[in-house]
Amino acid sequence: MGTAHKTIDKARFGQSGETAVDLYTLTNAHGIEVRIMTYGAALVSVKTPDRDGRLQNIILGFDSLQPYLAGVPYFGATVGRFANRIAKGRFVLDGKPYALPVNDGPNSLHGGPQGFDKRVWKAEPAPGEHVSAVQLTYVSAAGEAGYPGELSAQAVYRLTDDDQLVIEYSATTTAPTPVNLANHAYFNLSGDPASTILEHVLTINADSFTPVDETLIPTGELRLVAGTPFDFRRPQAIGSRIGADDEQLRLGHGYDHNWVLRQVTGHRLRSAAVLSDPKSGRSVEVATTQPGLQFYSGNFLDGKPVAQATGFPYRAGLCLETQHFPDSPNQPAFPGTILHPGERYLEMTVLTFRVQQ
Ligand code: GLA
Repeated sequence: MGTAHKTIDKARFGQSGETAVDLYTLTNAHGIEVRIMTYGAALVSVKTPDRDGRLQNIILGFDSLQPYLAGVPYFGATVGRFANRIAKGRFVLDGKPYALPVNDGPNSLHGGPQGFDKRVWKAEPAPGEHVSAVQLTYVSAAGEAGYPGELSAQAVYRLTDDDQLVIEYSATTTAPTPVNLANHAYFNLSGDPASTILEHVLTINADSFTPVDETLIPTGELRLVAGTPFDFRRPQAIGSRIGADDEQLRLGHGYDHNWVLRQVTGHRLRSAAVLSDPKSGRSVEVATTQPGLQFYSGNFLDGKPVAQATGFPYRAGLCLETQHFPDSPNQPAFPGTILHPGERYLEMTVLTFRVQQ
C-alpha cells in the first residue's frame, strides 16, 4: 500500500465530432481497475476479482468509442439533466410551462435525445493518498435540452484502497431548474456478459415502490412491497419472480421501477442494495444519499450488434440507478428536485466490491 500518491493513467479513446474523448484508468492497491471516459462521464469498465482472484469486467461496455457514438442505452453513463422520465416532457416551474423534447414514447427520458450522456465532459485527475480519482465537469447552457438556467455539473469518481468506488455529483445553477443525476452502469457480476443476470441475488432496503402506468410514469402511489414480486427486503434471485403474473411486471416488461429507499435518521448516506453473484462470489453493495433506486433488469437489451461490436443479450445486465423519483417535477408529493441559484446540489453513491468464498 504505502503512502505514495496514486498515478492515474490517461489515454486518448477517440473523437466525438471535433472533440477529443479521453479515457482515465484508476487502480487500487488490490488490483481493482476502473475506466472512465469523458464522453458522458461514463464508466467504461470495472474490473474486480472473483473468488479465485480472477480480474474481470463486471459492467457492460465496449473497448472502443464507436459503439457509444452509434448509440447504446446509457451504458455506464452519467444521465442528466434529469435522470428517468418526465411525463410528456412537460412541467411547470414558478408558474411557467416548459416543454422538453421527448425521446421515449410520449415522455422525456434521461435528459432527452441529447442528454448529459452524449456530451463530452472536461476532466482532470484528482490524485490523493489511498485514492485514485478523476473529476469531470460539464456546463449545460440555459435552455439546452429545454431546461432553464445554466447548470454547472460535476461528477467525481474516487477508487479507494478499501475497494470502494465513490461517485459524487454536484451542481449549481443560474435559475431554478429540475436536476436529477445518476449513473447508468449495467452490472453483470459473472464476468461473462453473454450470460443473463437472472441468477444474481438482490436485496433492496425499501418497504415500498412507485407503481407506474403503461408509459412507465409513476401513478403517484407509494405501494408496499410486502406480498409482491417487488419485495427484495431479503435476498432474492432476480429470476425467481420476474415472470410472475403481476400487472406491474407486465407494464415494466420485467423490473423497471423506482424503490423508495428506507431512511436512517441522522444519516444521509445509507445502504440501499446488495447485489451478488453466487457463481463468481462477487458482490456489490450500493450506499447512497439519494431517496430512490431505479432497478432496471435489462428488459430492452436485444443483442443486436452496434457499430461492428457485439450487442448484449436480453437481461445480460441490470441497472441500480440511485436517483430521485421519476417525474418528480410533476409529482408534488415526491421529494423535491428543483435546484435554486445559491444552492448546491450534492449527492453521493458508494459501491463496495467484495468477494464471498
Ligand atoms: C432506464 C429506464 C428504462 C430504459 C433504460 C435504457 O433504466 O428506466 O426503461 O429506458 O433506462 O434503456
